[in-house]
Amino acid sequence: MNREIPEIGGWKLVVQSLFERLGSPKKNPLKLAFLTIASAVIALPLAAAEHPAAVSTKDDLVSRGQYLSVAADCAACHTDPAGGQPFAGGYAIQSPMGKIFSTNITPSKQFGIGNYSRDEFAKAVREGVRADGGHLYPAMPYASYSMLTDADIDALYAYFMKAVKPVEKASPETKLPFPFNVRASMIGWNALFLGKDRFTADKAKDDQWNRGKYLVEGLAHCAECHTPRNALMAPNQSAAFAGGQVGSWYAPNITSDKLSGIGGWTDEELFSYLKTGKAGDKSRAAGPMAEAVEHSFQHLSDDDIKAMVAYLRTVPAIRDAGQTEANFVHGTAGTDVLKLRGVRKLTHEITDMSDGAQLYIAACASCHQPDGLGTKDKFYPALVNNTTTGQPNPTDLIAAILFGVKREVGGRETLMPGFGADSLVQRLSDEQVAAIANHVLQQFGNKQAKVTPADVATVRAGGPTPLIAWLANPFVLGVIGLVGLGVIVAAFRFIRRRKQAR
Ligand code: HEC
Ligand code: HEC
Ligand code: HEC
Repeated sequence: MNREIPEIGGWKLVVQSLFERLGSPKKNPLKLAFLTIASAVIALPLAAAEHPAAVSTKDDLVSRGQYLSVAADCAACHTDPAGGQPFAGGYAIQSPMGKIFSTNITPSKQFGIGNYSRDEFAKAVREGVRADGGHLYPAMPYASYSMLTDADIDALYAYFMKAVKPVEKASPETKLPFPFNVRASMIGWNALFLGKDRFTADKAKDDQWNRGKYLVEGLAHCAECHTPRNALMAPNQSAAFAGGQVGSWYAPNITSDKLSGIGGWTDEELFSYLKTGKAGDKSRAAGPMAEAVEHSFQHLSDDDIKAMVAYLRTVPAIRDAGQTEANFVHGTAGTDVLKLRGVRKLTHEITDMSDGAQLYIAACASCHQPDGLGTKDKFYPALVNNTTTGQPNPTDLIAAILFGVKREVGGRETLMPGFGADSLVQRLSDEQVAAIANHVLQQFGNKQAKVTPADVATVRAGGPTPLIAWLANPFVLGVIGLVGLGVIVAAFRFIRRRKQAR
């Protein structure tokens, strides 16, 4: 009887031991019935699990598509963070031109992309053109996705059509002011800036590097944040990964430069940063980077993270102007406590609301410690030798103070309260934030960096306004209109005069 059990892995041992315990089933019909049911219950799922080949190749495509959608972070943008259904849209992306709402990309035929053919889907994802021919704004990172391979588009399409639950709900409409509401203007933008080439492996490099390039430049679209943008809001390729503004935050230089970029980080630090948002005391992921780690990178395979690290190592180094020391070597442990003891009151009660040192003691020291070295267990990071306090651009320090840090990795939450307008702890003014930031920079960070209350106001308001956004200003538009009219009138007169002269 034992011989008849098919050889498909470890589950046979379980059934075998059952057989032995129950004796011969021929003598006992009850035992036979029990045995049949029990072995079916045990064997079926085990057999399926041990035989992935038994799963149809279609489902393979779907699960590959799901992984790709995580690597590309589709859900983060296409889900309303205020409890929206997955992929139903409604996330408001704060662009300098106004709010751009992500759309419903569930397979709902009425409200989503249920009627999209595979090719229409490919065109939306890689070329930024909807099925109805309307052009998407580059808030949808199609310029990065343009390099996605046909095979990956197939997998993504299979996942969205087969495994995503349709949500029968319209996403809010995007209403940008003139001239940005003219979607056709994107035709010109695409002609100038949209790459047409799909990814092809560089034969001179190994598989890991090629995979890393595909992830960093394509799927995981790191350049959308880390590459500075030109006057038309397109990535400036000659400064690839040299650092870019992302709303209130600044995505720092991640080129291979040893001082300004990640050239001085170890492979382990980079791996850990991408996988968990922590690179020892050197750096922690906050703001949009924390979101990317939380929703996307922490779920990627170790091999994929290693591939990204390998590729980042080879991104051409770009040094920030005038930089002479690495971002992570600044500052010394604070001695304020000793200096201030007996001189000023060192309680949580602030006696001088404009004194950076006192404000630091009151608002920050309970976690980052009076000496700025953080806690021993490293849960609260040191502010010394930390890239956020050491980089020449203090934007992320200001943003961390105003908006705090929030990140969930592996089911564990990391939280620093913000001190901005929504603070549940304490609301600090622009002057107070500037005073704390300057104290932190002087004591623990880059002494050359300075923060003014106006800088804080800019970060609070969502970041600096790029030139192009001024186009939507009625006054500027009026002036441009008048100048344009003036040119036309002048040209008309000039032609008339030449005609009369003849
Ligand atoms: C950084 C945010 C962001 C990410 C990441 C993102 N999208 Fe989008 N997507 C948008 C926004 C915003 C729009 C709407 C843009 C507009 O209205 O011009 C959009 C529009 C679309 C559309 C057009 C749907 C329609 O008919 O309106 C499709 C399809 C789409 N995205 C698919 C995807 C897929 C698939 C992924 C992942 C591979 C993805 N998106 C990742 C922001 C994002
Ligand atoms: C949505 C925007 C966004 C995307 C996408 C993004 N980053 Fe970031 N990144 C940021 C911001 C903002 C910071 C600064 C975070 C902070 O202050 O804690 C940052 C910080 C970093 C740092 C730390 C730099 C330092 O000096 O401390 C590294 C390394 C990094 N990102 C790598 C990457 C890689 C690699 C990718 C793609 C796989 C990526 N990022 C994708 C916005 C982004
Ligand atoms: C309740 C504890 C707590 C308080 C109070 C606090 N922090 Fe933090 N801080 C944290 C935690 C937690 C992190 C994130 C650690 C991580 O990401 O792993 C953090 C991170 C930071 C970072 C790094 C952010 C980045 O972008 O990488 C800076 C800078 C910082 N804090 C400065 C301050 C300053 C200045 C104050 C006072 C205004 C302050 N913190 C108050 C707990 C605190």
